Amino acid sequence: EGVYKVAVIGSGNWGSVATKIIASNTIKQSIFHDDVRMWVFEETLTTGEKLSETINKNHENCKYLPGIYLGSNVVADPDLENTVKGADMLVFVTPHSYIKGICKRLAGKIKPEAKAISLIKGMEVKKEGSCMISKLITEVLGINCCVLMGANIANEIAEEKLSEATIGYREDQEVANRWLQLFATPYFLVSIVEDIEGVELCGTLKNVVALAAGLVDGLEMGHNTKAAIMRIGFKEMRAFSKLLFPSVKDSTFFESCGVADLIATCFGGRNRKVAEAFARNRGKRSFNDLEEGVLQGQKLQGVLTAQELFEVLIDRGWEDQFPFFITVNKICTMQLPPRSILQCSSVLNSTQ
Ligand code: NAD
Ligand code: 13P
Repeated sequence: EGVYKVAVIGSGNWGSVATKIIASNTIKQSIFHDDVRMWVFEETLTTGEKLSETINKNHENCKYLPGIYLGSNVVADPDLENTVKGADMLVFVTPHSYIKGICKRLAGKIKPEAKAISLIKGMEVKKEGSCMISKLITEVLGINCCVLMGANIANEIAEEKLSEATIGYREDQEVANRWLQLFATPYFLVSIVEDIEGVELCGTLKNVVALAAGLVDGLEMGHNTKAAIMRIGFKEMRAFSKLLFPSVKDSTFFESCGVADLIATCFGGRNRKVAEAFARNRGKRSFNDLEEGVLQGQKLQGVLTAQELFEVLIDRGWEDQFPFFITVNKICTMQLPPRSILQCSSVLNSTQ
């Protein structure tokens, strides 16, 4: 019996792949307990079966990751409190809009010495300002929380195609090393960086740039325009991160969580895909409507993040410094047409 018991909170597309990776490691390394408990937000499938029951029967998440064997040591559990019972390592991987409610339900129900890691790309905006998800987890649960971000299109990693990821941590490198041991495989190359805010903001903000990249695809503007949009978005990502947290390091933007994730998501991500459909419909169908049809239960993070980012920029009086982020939000909320991503003069003339 291993020392550390692992629980995964979330079982969507990336949640299922992360669980598969983790389960392949816990069974091989004696410091981890073999079984990995995965919380499933329960739903009834069109066949009438419960999702968690089919996962436990077939070792496959037929809704969010069809055709991929998760491992016989993965136990799907629809009971959130039971999932985390006795767990020493908690992996959070849900759409960011649900995390606060989940943490509130878990407060006081986890081991005080447990450690957490967030794979969630997003942020929370409160009256007192913006809050990173790792900080929210630490504040509500009172435990250390690292982050793992990277160029990680889940379906590709599910097929064990080579990819990299970055773990961000604060102060406690020993804990970061334990997370690395849990995640690293020959096809999933993980590095660690002492810049938790930088890593988390890269993962969060690139979703907004990916929406712009998708708009450009939908407008059929070609590779050069898309590259220009990505470059300008990347600059605003860096400028915003450093304004919010002066400790953020430039070098973080050259890790997998930075430029690599930006490229992967702008070419192969869901935010890009739905934004392309939005532009092709000339902005006549809302993102919510398209998300339902295109993603079938999977969730976009970029549209809400663009809105949250907008609120932070207005609140801090930074809106003039971030014309690109502001424009993406106005397009997503249908205040501007998709083509404005090209007309935004500060985008075209950006010399920042
Ligand atoms: P997903 O978008 O595939 O699926 C949505 C999930 O939300 C499902 O598990 C669904 O059951 C759950 N859900 C629906 N309503 C809910 C509710 N009311 N409360 C709680 N859960 C509910 O999920 P995902 O791809 O695992 O994304 C989780 C996080 O991982 C996101 O922050 C995303 O940005 C990040 N991420 C995703 C990928 C990827 O390629 N999919 C890669 C890296 C990071
Ligand atoms: P999407 O949510 O746009 O698919 O991005 C996935 C991702 O974060 C890849 O690293």
